[in-house]
Amino acid sequence: MYDNNPTLVGIKKEIDESRQGEAFYQERQETSAEGATKHFYIESYGCQMNFSDSEIVASILAEAGYRPTRMLEEADLILVNTCSIREKAEETVRKRLRIFDKMKAQRPGALVGVLGCMAERLKKKLLEEEKLVDLVVGPDAYRDLPGLIESAGEGEKGINVLLSREETYADISPLRLDSNGVTGFISIMRGCDNMCSFCVVPFTRGRERSRNAFSIVAEATDLFEKGYREVTLLGQNVDSYKWENPENGKIVTFAQLLEMVALVHPTLRVRFSTSHPKDITDEVLYAMAKYDNICNYIHLPVQSGNSRILELMNRTYDRDWYKNKVRRIYEIIPDCAISSDIITGFCTETEEEHADTLSMIEYANYSMSYMFFYSERPGTLAARKYPDDIPLKVKKRRLQEVIDLQTQVSHRHNQADIGKTFQVLIEGDSRKSDQEFKGRNSQNKMIVFPKADGLQPGDYVWVKVHEASSATLKGEIVDRTEGSQG
Ligand code: 5AD
Ligand code: SF4
Repeated sequence: MYDNNPTLVGIKKEIDESRQGEAFYQERQETSAEGATKHFYIESYGCQMNFSDSEIVASILAEAGYRPTRMLEEADLILVNTCSIREKAEETVRKRLRIFDKMKAQRPGALVGVLGCMAERLKKKLLEEEKLVDLVVGPDAYRDLPGLIESAGEGEKGINVLLSREETYADISPLRLDSNGVTGFISIMRGCDNMCSFCVVPFTRGRERSRNAFSIVAEATDLFEKGYREVTLLGQNVDSYKWENPENGKIVTFAQLLEMVALVHPTLRVRFSTSHPKDITDEVLYAMAKYDNICNYIHLPVQSGNSRILELMNRTYDRDWYKNKVRRIYEIIPDCAISSDIITGFCTETEEEHADTLSMIEYANYSMSYMFFYSERPGTLAARKYPDDIPLKVKKRRLQEVIDLQTQVSHRHNQADIGKTFQVLIEGDSRKSDQEFKGRNSQNKMIVFPKADGLQPGDYVWVKVHEASSATLKGEIVDRTEGSQG
């Protein structure tokens, strides 16, 4: 997933950094499964959803008597939660699996398992042809893990890749791995019904289904009571969240869910990801404007700025429609930051059509974007219908143009924040110094500032920005806040 993309490399660094919260991890280890003797090690790749799923897996394994470990050498069970979204992501996982395979030779009895999208896509192939692993478990089959581990331990094939129309793991309380204790993910739905022609996700994660709204609010409340101050509601397409209460047949929409979670506590920030431009409604925007603790940030992937390409991608909106949506967001929430996902070199894309993507970056004034060149995925609509006819060199050159422009736009976006004061939720020490804190503002921008006595992660402070690069803001504390956040 991280590819060669600088933005994603940045995220990877952040994840690695948060993994250094060793003390917290140890503490969870002590409390997670009394008297357990076996250890599991889990590595996650890809989207936030995968990281969130790994916490569900960890909870299921803890119930079955396994303890988490970060030391591969002591693991009885090595799991990789995988991503299939681009070829590169799968290659990275294969490399890791070969390393684990070698390690297994030194640790007889240890099992290696593949979870997530690659398990779903490649199924038996991973067990039979490649013989790299003992367990293959798809995203809807995690409850079956303890049983599958047992059969694999007895030398049978441990495989379950059945997709479900109902599974949401609503009743499972995730075991927070590698957490900073301040920000947490809550998965609100699973799967995707959109069928964007480039995307393998509908095949690997199955049909869309929404989780019980009350279980989501209960999870947010529990996190708040444990000291967390920010939750991100996760789904492939959160705006199509729709849950029918079986007691009274009433539907809870995403806008209503947002309000329910925002009402947990005014000092609990609420974020969400990802929004499909076709589904985000004015009600959602009004809910964001109404509650200070719903963050003013929308990840609104455009994929391409050209209407013909958008049609081939089956995105169901065109350039003008997307532009209207952006206009509407800035109208209702003037200080909202918008970010995007962009694919370059999709099937048959011309230079003029690519130029439309560039101009969309300017028009939407994205604060940042995740940018990729098109990677054909077997079985997708695009792979079946359109030629992957843009040479790799051209795809990469277009990607570089997109990255260069986005870097300029991000820089300008951040420079415009100089002199402004933002409320920041402290997440921990900055990457470079233990004399500095880092935290995000409502717009999801990372701000680094010198520490002050008595403050700790989870506190809110007002920070005035005095310096900005394309990636980070720097500032100074001007006020401490208790109570509500804005
Ligand atoms: N090739 C390149 N990028 C892709 N994405 C999804 N599928 C592909 C593909 N086949 C990107 C999209 C999506 C993000 C998660 O990954 O931009 O929004
Ligand atoms: Fe893939 Fe489109 Fe669904 Fe996103 S919305 S997961 S890009 S099919």
